[in-house]
Amino acid sequence: MNSPSVRILNHAAEAVPLLLAEVEALAARPGTPLVGFATGGTFTAFFRALADELATKRLDASRLVATHLDEYLGFGPERFGGMVHELCEGCPPLRDWLARGAFLPVPNDGQPASIRAHEAALARHGGVQLQFLGIGRNGHLAFNEPGTPFDSGFHVTQLAETTRHDARARFAPDEPPTQAVTSGLATILGARRLVLCAFGAAKAPAVKAMLQGPIDPACPASLLRRHGDAHVLLDPAAAAELTRR
Ligand code: PGA
Repeated sequence: MNSPSVRILNHAAEAVPLLLAEVEALAARPGTPLVGFATGGTFTAFFRALADELATKRLDASRLVATHLDEYLGFGPERFGGMVHELCEGCPPLRDWLARGAFLPVPNDGQPASIRAHEAALARHGGVQLQFLGIGRNGHLAFNEPGTPFDSGFHVTQLAETTRHDARARFAPDEPPTQAVTSGLATILGARRLVLCAFGAAKAPAVKAMLQGPIDPACPASLLRRHGDAHVLLDPAAAAELTRR
């Protein structure tokens, strides 16, 4: 199989049913399969649709367990701007998952013991089966900024200036945070299946570097090309700099 597979959609909205189908396929697997969600504007429409599927019980996700990629340091689930807060606002059924222990939040205190406990909890569930990913303008995956070693696990990191710039509107009039707890690149590569979405012209250079530049920590997302089951969904604007191969 070609990995990553790359699919160029006519429009970003076409990704929503494809992403829902990914969750549905996962929910049909035995046991308590673990899905890793990604935050960011890229996934807003998907979460709206997922909330609808869950609320109307068209999707039986009762055995699914959720986690996510990263959290701003010190941002608890109730704090506006945080990733768990964003996920629960965007997809309210996740609040129930959180309450019943079926949503494993990234430990926002960044303490080594909390991070080890989180990694152990993910491992107890058999590891992440399906990981959704966005990509930063600078090629970051989660908050693995350029230069992050490929063999990194969960860790506390400094946010790149482009990342903080892109988060500025979210936190205005306050300044965006400077630090976050993030899953590492090795953590992400360890997920069984990866589905990355990138939409809009601002992502075109990062998409080009990810798929057609060197596999190098300078573009963390280039690591996807070392995964055997990775899938990339693009809209035409995000795909605009790709040369056909
Ligand atoms: P976005 O963020 O979905 O808001 O573009 C993606 C990312 O920075 O990884």
